[in-house]
Amino acid sequence: MHIVTGGGTGIGRAVATALHRQGHRVLVTGRRAEPLAEVARASDGEITAVACDNSTPEGVRAMLGAVEGGVEGLVHCAGGNPAIGREAPASLEDEADLLAETLAGNLTSAALTVAALDDRLAPGGSIVLYGSIAAETGVGYYGPAKAAVSSYAVGLADRLGPRGVRVNCVSPGYVAETEFFRGRLSADREEALRDQTMLGRTGVPEDAVDLTLFLLSERARHITGQNLHLNGGAHTMR
Ligand SMILES: NC(=O)c1ccc[n+]([C@@H]2O[C@H](COP(=O)([O-])OP(=O)(O)OC[C@H]3O[C@@H](n4cnc5c(N)ncnc54)[C@H](OP(=O)(O)O)[C@@H]3O)[C@@H](O)[C@H]2O)c1
Repeated sequence: MHIVTGGGTGIGRAVATALHRQGHRVLVTGRRAEPLAEVARASDGEITAVACDNSTPEGVRAMLGAVEGGVEGLVHCAGGNPAIGREAPASLEDEADLLAETLAGNLTSAALTVAALDDRLAPGGSIVLYGSIAAETGVGYYGPAKAAVSSYAVGLADRLGPRGVRVNCVSPGYVAETEFFRGRLSADREEALRDQTMLGRTGVPEDAVDLTLFLLSERARHITGQNLHLNGGAHTMR
């Protein structure tokens, strides 16, 4: 079975849909029931949806309860930047809350999801964790949280390698057609993000689908412990 956390919208939804079209059994998670129900409906009920918070032990237990058999692929898309659309912290307590929430949503969710599924990971399996260009460019606490995700992927790849399980991090630049900015991205800012790419194009979920499906496949058999940048040249890693 393949599991896509954050599979109700954006990149996760596109990945889950593509995996389902390839004939895989797919389970998606997210905190809100409605987008998940829509994904399940669009697949005629063939995609299993579990509404849960992947950053909590009870949430990942709920996910685990719906997992059937071994896990060949895990794509961890759950995450985001809770600072978007939120007032700047006005107290140390607010600051601590924002930091904790950002780390929980991105790093803790990855770690607990993997921990819950650990003994279900099938030999030959592949894990893709979603990082971000923000790890390199620095965006509040979101960038550091995504840097932690890509670092976590390296140690995890080292630990799971002997079991024949590969782990990679995909770090996109701006990807349109997602709920990431919650409708708050101005046309000017969107144009500026496009202009930062070398290709002069905006990323779309299908770009992430193609790379993710490759990393999940046998064709990527010698690729593990890597952070793959998917940004149209908006930031180089030389
Ligand atoms: N779009 C971009 O420009 C961009 C750029 C770089 C990196 N990324 C990363 O790419 C990944 C996918 O994001 P996206 O662009 O597709 O945006 P998105 O549409 O907002 O997708 C994120 C999904 O994760 C779910 N989610 C968030 N926290 C969760 C939690 N604790 N437990 C379970 N589900 C959770 C959200 O649903 P609920 O709110 O219902 O839980 C949502 O469906 C994220 O990790 C994001 O940080 C995005």
